Amino acid sequence: MKGVVLAGGIGSRLYPLTKITNKHLLPIFDKPMIYYPIQTLVDAGIREILVVTGGKNAGDFLRLLANGKEFGLNQINYAYQEGEGGIAEALNLAEHFAEGERLCVILGDNIIGGGIREAVDDFRKQPAGAKILLKEVPDAKRFGVAEVKGDRIVGIEEKPERPRSNYAVTGIYMYDQTVFDKIRTLVPSARGELEITDVNNAYIREGVMSFAFLDGWWSDAGTFESLLRAANFVAGSRRRSQATAEVAAST
Ligand code: DAU
Repeated sequence: MKGVVLAGGIGSRLYPLTKITNKHLLPIFDKPMIYYPIQTLVDAGIREILVVTGGKNAGDFLRLLANGKEFGLNQINYAYQEGEGGIAEALNLAEHFAEGERLCVILGDNIIGGGIREAVDDFRKQPAGAKILLKEVPDAKRFGVAEVKGDRIVGIEEKPERPRSNYAVTGIYMYDQTVFDKIRTLVPSARGELEITDVNNAYIREGVMSFAFLDGWWSDAGTFESLLRAANFVAGSRRRSQATAEVAAST
């Protein structure tokens, strides 16, 4: 399976922090935001990674990440999204890179405390279709929200006024090679974007969407509040692992 990090868009909700740089280059505690989703893919055993970015600072990604040596990679691939036509539009730029293989896609502003290796391994065994990861949240209407019946997702609504559940669809998606055919059928939403929720609903209609719940903390980092929350999550887990290491060293 190959990995894709989507780091396009203009980050308008973080203005003026994003006036002169790309949102995904802003710090989350001690590292640039983009480091976290790349590390999530690498920790899941994914070695071939495409970063899709855009805007005026795209060259800075190359200077920052180079060939991915800091992540133990030999190479990172890059694609450029002109404009900000939505998550599904950005993903469409990965078709050439995918070469018919399955993809694990992660949004560049999604920061997690645990790992996704088990879900990725489960998806490898799934005969076809897609898999998404859900997280129970107190503020579901900020996200795509999944309606779950038994062991099935029956539909996803994007930022609903009245969410049908507290299960947010996190920005971690696994797709088979039919994803690009589905993207080709999309029309822009009311906010003028090709929505990843429409892609996911197409898989749900075909009855080939599975899901799992994400372990550990999860935050996006696209608003001032969530940017701060993500940094605090990371700082907290760094402190905890340092304390554990100190206890281990003293015994
Ligand atoms: O964080 C999870 C949520 O992400 C999901 O629950 C929603 O269903 C999904 O639509 C998305 O919602 P947001 O409104 O928070 O997405 P946002 O526009 O902030 O974009 C998230 C990331 O996607 C961004 O950090 C980079 C990438 N992106 C976004 C757009 C609009 C692109 O690469 N290109 C784009 O054109």
